[in-house]
Amino acid sequence: MSQYIEISRQGAVQTIRMNRPEKKNAITRAMYSDMKNAMAAGEADDAIRCHVFLGVPGAFSAGNDMQDFLAYATTGGDMPEVIGFLETLALLKKPVVSGVDGLAIGIGTTIHLHCDLTIATPRSLFRTPFVDLGLVPEAASSFLAPGIMGHQKAFALLALGDDFSAEDALSAGLIYKIVSEDDLELETLKLATRVASRAPEALQISRRLMKQTPDLVIARIHEEAQLFSERLRSNEAREAFVAFMTRKKS
Ligand code: COA
Repeated sequence: MSQYIEISRQGAVQTIRMNRPEKKNAITRAMYSDMKNAMAAGEADDAIRCHVFLGVPGAFSAGNDMQDFLAYATTGGDMPEVIGFLETLALLKKPVVSGVDGLAIGIGTTIHLHCDLTIATPRSLFRTPFVDLGLVPEAASSFLAPGIMGHQKAFALLALGDDFSAEDALSAGLIYKIVSEDDLELETLKLATRVASRAPEALQISRRLMKQTPDLVIARIHEEAQLFSERLRSNEAREAFVAFMTRKKS
């Protein structure tokens, strides 16, 4: 188990917390793997009725670890931990609630497209700099985001890499509501507990009816991943990763 992922249970709610504050919760391969396993364990346990994702104060997640991106860009290979995480996330049957404070970048934003209820604080910042990094959208975001927020806002988020404030995210339908920093964790848990208190079978069926067809979501995850992995080895991407890794040295 990675030291950066904490799993806890509060009644029928299982919380997965990313806890790597010194790197703004950038997600490593081990972290993806642990989160995938935790989701699978929660799905298999009848005592768990709702999944929760949390970060730390100021950082939900700064996205995929750039060092890992650079390694993929240099040595090639696929990203099985990321794909495994995304597939598990997309195929969850139990509802998912997330609580965001601060940075929500890359997968830190796109993960919420798979969540049922997301709460964020006023200082939260949603951003997907895929194209600026020479990359393409992931996590089936190119399929899910236009359906949730319309093509134009999805384009501004995913292609232009525009910053979305908490208010922007609320008006785009990416999040459910905004609460203060002090209230975030309690409100997230309260909401998840309410979700968990509903008749579980009826809730799961209702959720499934409201979700996009899982087959299409999984297919898009794979299509994006193929292109993403090609783009990782492009000069555009390599230069962007090196620029990030060396930005503090001059
Ligand atoms: N991967 C690896 N390390 C990361 C990271 C990431 N995605 N995001 C932040 N970090 C690290 C920084 O390298 C820094 O480490 P250091 O103290 O050892 O130098 C530490 O986290 C703090 O980040 P810093 O950049 O100093 O904080 P900031 O508040 O000025 O900026 C961000 C925060 C998130 C805006 C900025 O770090 C950033 O743009 N990160 C990259 C985000 C990204 O593009 N993710 C991929 C999306 S597909």
